[in-house]
Amino acid sequence: MPDKHIFLRPGDRINFKAVSPLYREKYEAEVMGVKDSTLFVSMPLSQGKLVLLSTGTPLEVTCPYGRFSFASEVLKRDFQPSPHLVLQLPYYLSAKKNRARVITVTSGKGGVGKTTFTINFAINLAQKGYRVFVMDADLGTANIDVLLNIQPKYNLNHVINREKELLDIVVEGPGGFHLIPGGSGVLSLADMEEWQFNRVISGLQTLEDYADIILIDTGAGLGKNVINFALAADNIIIITTPEPHSITDAYAVVKVLNQQNKNLVPYLVLNRVESAKEYRAVATKIEQVIYRFLGMKISPLGYVLDDPVVPKANRRLEPFSLSHPSSSAARCLQALTDKFVQPEQPISSSFSELGFFNRLKELFK
Ligand SMILES: Nc1ncnc2c1ncn2[C@@H]1O[C@H](COP(=O)(O)OP(=O)(O)OP(=O)(O)O)[C@@H](O)[C@H]1O
Ligand SMILES: [Mg+2]
Repeated sequence: MPDKHIFLRPGDRINFKAVSPLYREKYEAEVMGVKDSTLFVSMPLSQGKLVLLSTGTPLEVTCPYGRFSFASEVLKRDFQPSPHLVLQLPYYLSAKKNRARVITVTSGKGGVGKTTFTINFAINLAQKGYRVFVMDADLGTANIDVLLNIQPKYNLNHVINREKELLDIVVEGPGGFHLIPGGSGVLSLADMEEWQFNRVISGLQTLEDYADIILIDTGAGLGKNVINFALAADNIIIITTPEPHSITDAYAVVKVLNQQNKNLVPYLVLNRVESAKEYRAVATKIEQVIYRFLGMKISPLGYVLDDPVVPKANRRLEPFSLSHPSSSAARCLQALTDKFVQPEQPISSSFSELGFFNRLKELFK
């Protein structure tokens, strides 16, 4: 289960011990690069001399800041261009071959449960073995860190102000997902100077190499940022409750998205429903209306029952899928996640050959 911090970057220092009576010390080395499932590190020194660890030597590697360790072995040692070792990486640290799938979670009306859904969905996906990142893109009033009771030292503000790189602000959330804290008081994307915006986007772009899934929790409504995040994503999840106001506001968002891109097929999630029966009735109605008036498809992904466990867990700053895994809300979300990870899910973007962040740049131009 990839519940570890997964970054290994050139310049990071790692420690390792050989599982062999021949080499008894604890060595230190510098990461030179990661390629597929191998890690290139500088050859360690002992009292100023290179340590010539033999190929096949098993190792216990400890990674930056002592945050995690893994078993490895020396695959190769080489002296060109400089003395280095090639180490085996566990699968969850291997360089990814596919680009990340980016999913924007949005709604028409506020307060329908986007943030709660995003956090718990992220946990479910992480528990299935995906490397999941959540970006708190409700810039200005970002609050995921508050809901998770974590106090990140740095947030997007520090990235914008050139104090930190994006990968430095990522923190581990509960249940094995990674959070990019938004930080309150961050400029909204629309108010940023172009260089500030580019800094955030190019920082985020590096994530595409590390993540399987990036979930973007946006603010509600029709703001330009929200719409652009949705248009650039591979998938859009529109959340609504069965309440008429919430549905009409969701429809307004779908309409704007449709004006921009006729080929989108957003997912629909109904939150706080009374029963599976209510879900089916409301989802069918929404599907029909959207098809009739916009000629557009929407793909019902599932529902979460209205469950008192959810606000209770939120008040205790615990995600309900961890604190109450057998609650009806948690079981609904589990079923929804199972459906989401089935292979034949639609890709909604019409220009998916560009990465998400390049698409976003295009849209903001
Ligand atoms: N399935 C559910 N059952 C009961 N209550 C729920 C459920 N989902 C969310 N809630 C409650 O709804 C409220 C709003 O949730 P949340 O903050 O996740 O919404 P949001 O859409 O992110 O809001 P905003 O638009 O302000 O960002 C919270 O008090 C939460 O506990
Ligand atoms: Mg929210």
